Amino acid sequence: MITDQDVENYLYAILPPSGPVLEEMERQAAARKIPIVGPAVARVFRLLAELCGAKRVFELGSAIGYSTLWWAQAVGAGGEVFYTDSSADNAREAAGYFRRAGVEARVRILQGEALALFDATPGEFDIVFLDLNKDQYAAALRRAVGRIRPGGLLVADNVLWRGLVAHPAETPETAAMAEFNRLLYADKRLEPVILPLRDGVAVARVTRA
Ligand SMILES: C[S@@+](CC[C@H](N)C(=O)[O-])C[C@H]1O[C@@H](n2cnc3c(N)ncnc32)[C@H](O)[C@@H]1O
Repeated sequence: MITDQDVENYLYAILPPSGPVLEEMERQAAARKIPIVGPAVARVFRLLAELCGAKRVFELGSAIGYSTLWWAQAVGAGGEVFYTDSSADNAREAAGYFRRAGVEARVRILQGEALALFDATPGEFDIVFLDLNKDQYAAALRRAVGRIRPGGLLVADNVLWRGLVAHPAETPETAAMAEFNRLLYADKRLEPVILPLRDGVAVARVTRA
């Protein structure tokens, strides 16, 4: 927990309902301990996508498709969101939610290794969202930045890793996230910020491809 528990509770208590399909996914995630971004962070994603007029979003690490569905709703009809996950069961479950939410036409479900799928998908993106294994964040950053259009965004979850990045040697994941954050701020093509919301969200605007 990064913020005070009472503040954290307040941030979630004040939120309006997410809608029936997203709420079912939130219940499933809570019951089965699936690590989704949750509604507070997801609303930031929707706002970012709408502010930058995103139409094409690539997500690395999608699980049951909760954040994917928020991106899909944000890009609107005619938009395109790439779901990636290594689990065929997750991909099947996500497909059901996308159908029920009426966004299946704008979501491309790609099952397999997210970085390989990213490399195999041609074209430029408005937003690339990282939520894959933490030791792959640095590699993903290196591969993604040149494929985001100027004015587009690189977004990454878990960048404060429960606050442990303040003590970078503690676990391999902590060291990986600290290195990712260092690379993020060192990259002259990016204007990054870190939002200390939930587990920490990095948002970096691409100033040139
Ligand atoms: C944190 S969860 C994703 C949650 C999702 N973004 C959300 O907020 O709704 C990470 C998922 O990515 C998958 N994953 C992690 N690294 C991956 C990789 N390199 N290739 C494919 N899937 C990966 C995991 O199996 C897991 O289902």
